[in-house]
Amino acid sequence: MKIAIIGTGYVGLTSGACFAEVGHSVTCVDNDPKKVQLLKSGVIPIFEPGLEEMVKRNTAAGRMIFTEDLHEAVKSASVIFIAVGTPPQEDGSVDLRFVEAVAREVAEVMEPGDYKVVVDKSTVPVGTGDRVGKTILRYAKLGAEFDVVSNPEFLREGTAVDDLMKPDRIVVGANSERARKLMWEIYEPFPGDRVEVDLNSAELIKHAANSFLAMKISFINCVAAICDKSGADVEQVAHGIGLDQRIGRAFLNAGLGYGGSCFPKDVDAFLAVSRDLGVPFELLDQVHRMNARQLDLLIEIMHEKLWVLRNKKIAVWGIAFKANTDDLRESVAIKLIKRLAEEGAQVIAYDPKGMENFRRENPELVESGKVTLATSALESVENAECMVIATEWPEFVDEDFEKVKSDLRLPIVFDGRNLLDPAKMIGLGFDYVPIGRAGKMESLRNAASA
Ligand code: UGA
Repeated sequence: MKIAIIGTGYVGLTSGACFAEVGHSVTCVDNDPKKVQLLKSGVIPIFEPGLEEMVKRNTAAGRMIFTEDLHEAVKSASVIFIAVGTPPQEDGSVDLRFVEAVAREVAEVMEPGDYKVVVDKSTVPVGTGDRVGKTILRYAKLGAEFDVVSNPEFLREGTAVDDLMKPDRIVVGANSERARKLMWEIYEPFPGDRVEVDLNSAELIKHAANSFLAMKISFINCVAAICDKSGADVEQVAHGIGLDQRIGRAFLNAGLGYGGSCFPKDVDAFLAVSRDLGVPFELLDQVHRMNARQLDLLIEIMHEKLWVLRNKKIAVWGIAFKANTDDLRESVAIKLIKRLAEEGAQVIAYDPKGMENFRRENPELVESGKVTLATSALESVENAECMVIATEWPEFVDEDFEKVKSDLRLPIVFDGRNLLDPAKMIGLGFDYVPIGRAGKMESLRNAASA
């Protein structure tokens, strides 16, 4: 099938590569000439495991090409995916100007007798597909036929390729059989449950799914705070409730809260949708507030332990918003780094993939010396007062903690992602401070002193 993908961000690029991988002929369009040039020369502007190899393989095989020319790409494609940015506005609602602009451009290319399916792949508020349809109708030539489909993505950064190649479900929201048939042809080689719904429902599925996952995280973070006050252990609680199949263990990892380009934005956007429709959704407002509170809680604990943070050298492990990505958008680790720097602490940070982006996006912090970037996790702790884990990179688990202990001035490790093994840390003599694990820590300390 000939496919055009408009927008080569995370979603567009990964979707394009995966469609090409199963044999479709994909043209990826972007209006940023520099980006197109880079992609043509085989440089992938984001770090995503497995993506670079897949793009190279498919461009070499001629199944994937990059262009700035939307008209050419749309002309020859049967299905056009809109995967452009949908940035947030001040009030939390989504700015749909790029989606609208693409809809207009696509419409202008359509000729009488053409039939094209235009797919909303970007995360959009319910009702956007209808508006896209009306826009195309308004600008297309008489006799051009089309359908609008919503096909939300559920890929996670860091595992995007796998999530797309082996999805648990594929959602196609369409109001026409003809469009549905083409969509299932595209997805024929992919496994996963087929979910056929109407256009509006598909759009809602995406916002509701992300908001629900964010709610799970805020819920467990609240439970973690209760664990810390009551002497329980959030890991044991999460295990106990997660085994109930109606609840599930996934996304019940307590920590510093969620970040990234999706959850914060989508929770806000869903709230804005509910507001616009006159259906108050206070629960989501709380989800959002509880998430912001996690960082405050950690800063409070740091004050309890260290009293004054000013002029103290504090090592922070992790900059990216989660492991296996160099994406820093809405990263809680960065919020932590900034808070510490504001308090006058000397931050020395390390991240396996996020350093370059941090340097580029925060020149004032780096140039002023408020934040130093270390070349390794171990280098960051040399002579530091204490350290904080802010991102759940698995490789941090295997660092040499005996060396960490001998290099830190105080053996305090704040584990904002509950990444490390408390027994090991206590055994090494650390003052180890995880989130919501007071009960576990107490029993370990009692056992060690018995
Ligand atoms: C999220 C969804 O998981 C995807 O299904 C969705 O397609 C995507 O948004 C999107 O809308 O495009 P992503 O933002 O890549 O994916 O990252 P997640 O793995 O969901 O993690 C989000 C944040 O939650 C991270 O900061 C992570 O550290 C945090 N998190 C996750 C927790 O604090 N606890 C958990 O138990 C899980």
